[in-house]
Amino acid sequence: MSSQLQTSLKNKMILAPLTKGGNLPFRRLCTDFGMDTSVSEMIYARGLLKGSPVENARLRRAENERVFGVQFATNQIEEGLNAIELIQKSGASFVDLNCGCPIYDVTRRGLGSSLLRSPSKLKKLVKGLVDGTNLPITVKIRLGCEADTINCLENVKAAREAGAAAITIHGRTAQQGYSKDANWELIRQAVVESREEGYGHVPIVGNGDILTYYEARRRMKETGVDSIMVGRGALAKPWIFKEFNDNATWLPTTNERIEVYYTLARYMKDHFGDDDMGRKRAWTFLPWHFQFLTRYCPYPEEEYAIQSTEKPLIQSRVICTSDDPLEILLANKSPEAHDHIAALLWESDSNSAAIQKLQTFAESPEFKQIVLTGGAIAEEDKVLANKPPGREGKWNKRQVRKPGPKRSEEEIAALREQRAKKKDMILAAGGEWPPN
Ligand SMILES: Cc1cc2nc3c(=O)[nH]c(=O)nc-3n(C[C@H](O)[C@H](O)[C@H](O)COP(=O)(O)O)c2cc1C
Repeated sequence: MSSQLQTSLKNKMILAPLTKGGNLPFRRLCTDFGMDTSVSEMIYARGLLKGSPVENARLRRAENERVFGVQFATNQIEEGLNAIELIQKSGASFVDLNCGCPIYDVTRRGLGSSLLRSPSKLKKLVKGLVDGTNLPITVKIRLGCEADTINCLENVKAAREAGAAAITIHGRTAQQGYSKDANWELIRQAVVESREEGYGHVPIVGNGDILTYYEARRRMKETGVDSIMVGRGALAKPWIFKEFNDNATWLPTTNERIEVYYTLARYMKDHFGDDDMGRKRAWTFLPWHFQFLTRYCPYPEEEYAIQSTEKPLIQSRVICTSDDPLEILLANKSPEAHDHIAALLWESDSNSAAIQKLQTFAESPEFKQIVLTGGAIAEEDKVLANKPPGREGKWNKRQVRKPGPKRSEEEIAALREQRAKKKDMILAAGGEWPPN
C-alpha cells in the first residue's frame, strides 16, 4: 500500500490541506481539472474520537477523487491510532500528520508545529503510528518553529527513520506567516539529505508559493522534490492542476472563469442542499472562496517566467487592471462583493444566467459604491498568525519585527505604477480618487 502511495506521489501536483478551502465541493472542482491527490482539511484526532460531526464530515471524499489523504492533529500514539481506525473505515488512502499548523489554539495543546521542536519525540510518535496501522502515514512539516530554530533536516531524518511514507516540507517557519518567500534552498538540502545511502526512497513533496505550472516545474527541477503541493495557488486558480498536467498556461476568458465559479456553486448545492438550510451551510465557504478567486491574474509564461525566478508570482501581488466592469467585479477584494457574487451564482440556474446576473450587478450603482468603500483583507495573514489572542508574553516578544531593508528605486517605481493602475481602475468604475 505504502509503495503504491509512493508511486502516486511521484511527479504530481497535490492539493494542500486547507482548512475551510479544502471542502469537498472545492476538491471535486479541482479533480475536474486533473487533480489526482489531495489532503483533507485538518481534523483533530480527539474531536474525531469524541464523535464531532464537523470532524466526521471532513473524512468524506468527493465521488471523483482518486487518492485522498486525511490530515489529522495528534501528539499521542494511542489517540492517533484510534483515530486512524476511524479514518481507515472512511476509506482514506493515507493519513497525514500535521506538524506545521502555527495557530496558537493548536500549538498550545502541543499539536501542529509544536511537534517540530523535538525531532526525537516526533520520531517516536511517527514510528508508533506507522507500526500500529497498515495505512500509510505521511508527515507535513515546516522548516522549524522560528528563524533561529530551523531544524527541518533533523525532522525529515526523524520522519524518514520512523517509516513515514512521504514528507511534505512547507518552506517557511511556523512563526513567519506569508510575508517572506518560501525557502526552497532548504527544501533542496532536505532532498539531498533524504537521498543518503541506506534508506529507501521516501518521496519529498515541496510546498510554498506555487502559482503557475512553470514555477512548479522549475522548483521540481532545481530541488529534486518528487512532487509539488499547492495551496493558495489552487484557491486562486483551481485549474492549476490542468496547467501542471498539460505543461501549459490556461488563460481562461472572463466567461470561462465564471463557468468555473458557477460550477463550484453548483457543487456546493449538490453537497449542502439546494434549500435554505443548504445555502446557510454553504455560506461558510462560497463567499470565502472569492477572497482567493478574485486574486486571479493571467501569467503567461513568455511574460512572467523570468520575473518568477526573482520573486514568486504569488508573493509579488501584481494588481491586474481592466476597464471591463465584470473584470473589476471579479477582482474586487471586499467581503461585500464576495457575498454578492456568491449569491448571484447560487441563484442562477445556468452558466449564461450567472454571466448575465454578474454583468448586471457589475454595472450597478450598488457595486460602484462597494468599489469606493470596500477594502482587502488577506485571509492567510489574518487566519494563520500564531498569536495568542490578547496575551502579552514570550511569543509577542519573539514577534517583534525588525525593520525591513529599504526599498530600491525599482521597487518604488513598481509601487507607484501599481498605485496609478489602482487609481485608473477606481476612476473607470466611476469612483473618486483619492478614496475617502
Ligand atoms: C486558508 C488556508 C488554510 C490552511 N489550512 C491548513 C491545514 O489545515 N493544514 C495544514 O497542514 N496546512 C494548512 N495550510 C497551509 C497550506 O497547506 C500550505 O502549506 C501553505 O499555504 C503554503 O502553500 P502555498 O504557498 O501553496 O499556499 C493552510 C493554508 C491556507 C491559506
